[in-house]
Amino acid sequence: MTATHPTPSATDLDWWRSAVVYQVYVRSFADSNADGVGDLQGIRERLPYLRDLGVDALWLTPFYTSPMVDGGYDVADYRDVDPMFGNLTDFDNMITDAHALGLRIIVDLVPNHTSDAHVWFQAALAAGPGSPERERYLFADGRGATGEEPPNDWESIFGGPAWTRVADGQWYLHLFDPAQPDLNWRHPEVRAEFEDILRFWLDRGVDGFRIDVAHGMIKQEGLPDVGFSTMTTGQRQVELLGKGRLPYFDQDEVHDIYRSWRPILDSYPGGRMAVAEAWAETPQRLARYIGPDELHQAFSFDFLDATWSADSFRKVVDTALAESTIVGAPTTWVLSNHDKKRHVTRYGDGEVGLRRARAATLLMLALPGCAYIYQGEELGLPEVLDLPDELRQDPSFLRTGESRDGCRVPIPWSGQLAPYGFGPAGSELSWLPAPATWAALSVAAQTGVPDSTLELYRTALRIRRGHPALALGDGGITWRETAPGVLAFSRAAGDVELTCVVNLSGAPTRISGYGTPLVASAPLTGEGDGHLLPIDAAVWFERPLVG
Ligand code: GLC
Repeated sequence: MTATHPTPSATDLDWWRSAVVYQVYVRSFADSNADGVGDLQGIRERLPYLRDLGVDALWLTPFYTSPMVDGGYDVADYRDVDPMFGNLTDFDNMITDAHALGLRIIVDLVPNHTSDAHVWFQAALAAGPGSPERERYLFADGRGATGEEPPNDWESIFGGPAWTRVADGQWYLHLFDPAQPDLNWRHPEVRAEFEDILRFWLDRGVDGFRIDVAHGMIKQEGLPDVGFSTMTTGQRQVELLGKGRLPYFDQDEVHDIYRSWRPILDSYPGGRMAVAEAWAETPQRLARYIGPDELHQAFSFDFLDATWSADSFRKVVDTALAESTIVGAPTTWVLSNHDKKRHVTRYGDGEVGLRRARAATLLMLALPGCAYIYQGEELGLPEVLDLPDELRQDPSFLRTGESRDGCRVPIPWSGQLAPYGFGPAGSELSWLPAPATWAALSVAAQTGVPDSTLELYRTALRIRRGHPALALGDGGITWRETAPGVLAFSRAAGDVELTCVVNLSGAPTRISGYGTPLVASAPLTGEGDGHLLPIDAAVWFERPLVG
């Protein structure tokens, strides 16, 4: 069934409070020119699919000019499109069509670091120590008699030291790959440049920004040693936070930057927003990124990290909702993204993982706030675990042995043979190979199949959009008494109540009293007001409120 969308209107300023945002990993979504890499024109051609899926907005991962050392998170020119993805005209056409279909567009902003191919960094290398060009980055002399040791003990999130030495003997800081030098955000030119970049994309009509590494831009004065190893497995920034405040994360002055960006966003019509990819030691510190004078949202990664248990989910939901109430902003739920193992696989892989993933989706979509869906989760895609090492492109793979390529495999659209319609008819190229089992998971294979994951998402999104209790971005939930291991909460609007029940107990559970089932992640058995909910399943009920 086709969802009806209003065209984005200048009056709907708070659209993001209850929006469902679909994350497009541009390289892997749809390839229009048969080069094996997704592109902007490919997205444009698939916009009707996204409209029919029932999402409100798209977040596009970086498509800017880039050497692609870190999948485009190494930006060489913030105001242009990499030829691999198209050009600015393709972008303009894509956003025009998206808006005409009622879909908003959020783009990724990468302010913590540039690419080493950026003109500023090239100028800094050429100009030498002590030059104004070096001031825009974090260059420093080394320790030791001849400066042969890095300036401090910081380690890169991708493994190895966070410092690289250049030919003249100085070192520069990179919290990620050596090809991603960190900018000096205490420098006025850096601040002015990014304010201008914001305006450049706002003028082109973008509805919002996803701020990459939003907690990392300010480093503690003096760049002090951490004092312990921060080596993690892969991109597990969360492991670092358990070790105490780091001199390069979540420094108080980072908030000055967002306070200067907010008036820029607010000066454009139509409700332009920003969402932080921020990691902080506590939910309380994370909440400081959002509010009327800073950013609109921050991903609630604790929800993504929750383990498959009723206690774990209930705890993170309660904490996130409490924090969002204090700051007066909605919570931002997410189960998967381009950096994390897909949730089907995290929850046990195979049939069990898929069952749980479908249930978790109904849980997420019933909660108040905004939800982010990562491309392919609506198809129930698992992580691809057996990619040959030589095809893996994640820069952290060589240093840590962990790679994020398995969640970035191109989307299967149709057909029996890989890459399953990722490119135009006859194209056999895709930058990562899709598994042989994915023919059955393609969009075409699942469309119209009532119990498919794609149809579950479509149904749930349609109900969410039209249901008065779910369409509200704000408001609380009321937990209901249940058997151990079962979660149930209700949301009411006017004279109707919606209840979401999730069975994490490991045994089928009998439920009654919540009304009529609207959608379930697995078939319910039972008649009338008594139902049996299978293990690892979720259901939404609706009930009129009387009196
Ligand atoms: C963010 C991105 C990730 C990237 C990193 C460095 O965490 O989500 O993909 O590697 O920043 O830019």
